[in-house]
Amino acid sequence: MHTPSGHPVAATSVARVVVLASGAGSNLAALLAAHDSPGFGARVVGLVTDKPDAGALDLARGAGIASAVVAPADFADRADWDRGVGEAVAVFRPDLVVLAGFMRILSPAFLDRFPGRVVNTHPALLPAFPGAHGVRDALAHGVKVTGCTVHVVDAGVDTGPILAQVAVPVLPDDDEAALHERIKVAERALLVETVGRIAREGLTVTGGRAVVGAH
Ligand code: GRF
Repeated sequence: MHTPSGHPVAATSVARVVVLASGAGSNLAALLAAHDSPGFGARVVGLVTDKPDAGALDLARGAGIASAVVAPADFADRADWDRGVGEAVAVFRPDLVVLAGFMRILSPAFLDRFPGRVVNTHPALLPAFPGAHGVRDALAHGVKVTGCTVHVVDAGVDTGPILAQVAVPVLPDDDEAALHERIKVAERALLVETVGRIAREGLTVTGGRAVVGAH
């Protein structure tokens, strides 16, 4: 694991990963299934969610992973909530923060706490179809191929430097749910592969480009 400037962080140990999720948590489950594999190089040490009823929370509890619920309703305003998320994540001393279906925007102040170390998975081929409805928007546009993207998070919505992508065909009978399920199969594999590579080979972010393994 390396900082944006290329200096090794915890190079001889396993990278500490904190997952942020709002939903069912199948991406979290995929990371949990991988992190015991010898040589994977990363370990999920904590889950932070904004939703007290997220399926991801049950998954974390079942796997014995520490978790924190940071619900907007418990905070005075958005900035306060955002700070709360930062505090909850920092407790786990992460080398890498993975947004895996975390359906809220985090501020530049949050990102500054973990510079170049926050990645997101998105169910479309960015820069096409950013935002909360990437699958629905791709389908509505009539594209024949969509997919998923893992990227470094910047201050925009799904605009950060792209790390990895996989294409997924749109089938004639697809509705949003069917297409999203097919994308999620590819997405889980891509996320696990990319997190492992970052942990083992490092991540360098310079000039709006992100490269795994350049160190
Ligand atoms: C993923 O497709 C993610 O990209 C999107 O929501 C889905 C979350 O799935 N934003 P899960 O909660 O990991 O099962």
